Amino acid sequence: MGKLRSLSGLQPTGPLHIGNYFGAVRQHVALQDRAEGIYFVADYHSMTSLRRAARRREFVRDLALDYLASGLDPARSILYRQSDLPETTELTWLLSTVTPMGLLQRAHSYKDKLAAGQSPGHGLFSYPVLMAADILQYNPDIVPVGQDQKQHLEMTRDMANHFNHAYGAEVFRLPEPYVLPDVAVVPGVDGRKMSKSYDNALRMFWPPAKLRKAVMAIVTDSTPVADPKNTEQALFRLWALFATAAEREEMFARAARGGLGYGEVKRDLAERICTYFGEMSARRAELAARPDDVEDVLREGARRARALMQPVLAAAREAAGLGPPAPAQRTKR
Ligand code: ADP
Ligand code: TRP
Repeated sequence: MGKLRSLSGLQPTGPLHIGNYFGAVRQHVALQDRAEGIYFVADYHSMTSLRRAARRREFVRDLALDYLASGLDPARSILYRQSDLPETTELTWLLSTVTPMGLLQRAHSYKDKLAAGQSPGHGLFSYPVLMAADILQYNPDIVPVGQDQKQHLEMTRDMANHFNHAYGAEVFRLPEPYVLPDVAVVPGVDGRKMSKSYDNALRMFWPPAKLRKAVMAIVTDSTPVADPKNTEQALFRLWALFATAAEREEMFARAARGGLGYGEVKRDLAERICTYFGEMSARRAELAARPDDVEDVLREGARRARALMQPVLAAAREAAGLGPPAPAQRTKR
């Protein structure tokens, strides 16, 4: 049996936080050992929220650096910039024509924006179709994402089905989401889901002083030091991400006994985060000094990605009767 194929993307919309790391990047890196990995910087997607061109370029470079510093190995995995493969937008159109409005209207990401009083543009509305094209163009087996992207994956499966049925051809395979349950949702410093939109994020590559300050500000309940602590709180859930199973057991037992101060847990968490990301941080600085090498990685990634997606796009075009007829049909009477 061949290797599994894994595909995922991240939007270049600002520095990565540890929710992005545990929910997405870490999986992408870990999967390199057992899957053929294809990962990309979703700059087309970022156009739904970011209009500053120079900023986008900066964020794309930063995300490529973050990925490489986190251990994505271009010798084993493909890393590319979405807009270096404009063919994806053609597939987006093909899928658009079989996608019911109702399907897109049910997307949480769209409904949330509506509820927040924004008036979404067509790009934001059709965003899941672009995401489906990103995925289906490679017929991947699994798509590692955080919990919040699961619905988009279900929509992708629907679109694949609609297309296959519409044209009576098995052009697209239905991909599986890959969501690790223990890190499904990383909490932010205020206890809500960590997100760059909530101003509650701990960034992966913040300087230690800034990180310590943010960790000390994690919101906790007002249980006195002597009393038992509720380990469902964000502080403990964050701490647990950086601890071994044995350490976790010990800490949770101490919390249950009482006598554990939140300050101690916070200081320890800050140290653990700095240690955990320390080596990656150093690697990132090294890579940042070689911008041409990073560009080469992205360019070579797009070249390899194109070779993988071209047969799928060709099959979709053929199924839909686009372009000149295949030679066999031309000569047939
Ligand atoms: P944000 O919510 O900060 O805008 P994105 O929506 O850009 O983050 O998410 C990028 C990736 O990181 C997605 O795969 C998403 O599921 C994952 N992710 C984001 N926030 C978290 C979180 N708090 N916990 C786990 N995974 C997350
Ligand atoms: N929508 C994803 C996010 O906001 C990013 C993304 C775009 C993606 N295309 C994808 C993720 C394809 C997985 C597969 O995080």
